[in-house]
Amino acid sequence: MPPAETIQSALVNAIQTLSRAQIASPRLDAEVLLAHTLRCDRSRLYAHPHAPLPADAARTFSAFIRRRAAHEPVAHLLGEREFFGLPFFVSSAVLIPRPETELLVEHVLARVSPSARIVDVGTGSGCIAVSLAVQLPSARIFATDISADALAVARRNIARHNVTAQVSPVQADLLTGLRGKFDAIVSNPPYIAPAERSTLPPDVREFEPPQALFSEDEGLAHLIRLLKDVPSLLSPGGRVFLEFGAAQGAAVLSAAKQMHPAASFSIVQDLGGRDRLLVGAF
Ligand SMILES: C[S@@+](CC[C@H](N)C(=O)[O-])C[C@H]1O[C@@H](n2cnc3c(N)ncnc32)[C@H](O)[C@@H]1O
Repeated sequence: MPPAETIQSALVNAIQTLSRAQIASPRLDAEVLLAHTLRCDRSRLYAHPHAPLPADAARTFSAFIRRRAAHEPVAHLLGEREFFGLPFFVSSAVLIPRPETELLVEHVLARVSPSARIVDVGTGSGCIAVSLAVQLPSARIFATDISADALAVARRNIARHNVTAQVSPVQADLLTGLRGKFDAIVSNPPYIAPAERSTLPPDVREFEPPQALFSEDEGLAHLIRLLKDVPSLLSPGGRVFLEFGAAQGAAVLSAAKQMHPAASFSIVQDLGGRDRLLVGAF
């Protein structure tokens, strides 16, 4: 009988497999997947490197590594991803929450009143709406998405974080059909040009929903439609917060100013100095 695999040998083999498959962070991914398999912290793996790996754990881990080597995202394998300090369920129906979107949440929190009425357009996993609700327990939030499957994931996250009384999921095409006035309209809409599909990493291109990624007109179609529609739904002094791609700042700002000359707009950059957010006050 071959000697049982140890934690260390399983990790070494997995890192080799992931490196050969050109996975960007082979060690980190292997450690995260093994820690998840063993239901322990990553640090425990190094505290007991020579501990034998039970056969069922070895099978589970090797299935994870096969899937990761085929570029399936770690978040899909774990079924969740952290955003703004909270765990969110994810599936292939939603965009995996990105750390850069935390900037949008920070700017909304810095500028809205505690009891604001907010719409999160294209909520996906619900990460923006739920994070805002947790931080602003008196706010009322409508979380829209065109995808029923995405809204099913958002509903699970709304329940997971006990904000069902605050956050209402709504199936809608952007802002179509919404009634009433809101203090803030926030969105991380699809903004990648379809022509850029082949430049995306396979983890994104093959596994994340196209509806969450792509927008016509060089990635600007959803942003422009949103900018057109927001004024009729904003209360006086209401604000809009829109995430966009790093190369789209000038185009988004100029479209916004042209459409709404009386409003004031600014572009916010991320920590890497890239244009990332449009903030507009109406
Ligand atoms: C980039 S993802 C953002 C998801 C989530 N808000 C986040 O930041 O992780 C865009 C979301 O917009 C949704 N979407 C695409 N077109 C839409 C439309 N016309 N109306 C409403 N939602 C739309 C997609 O289903 C997807 O969930």
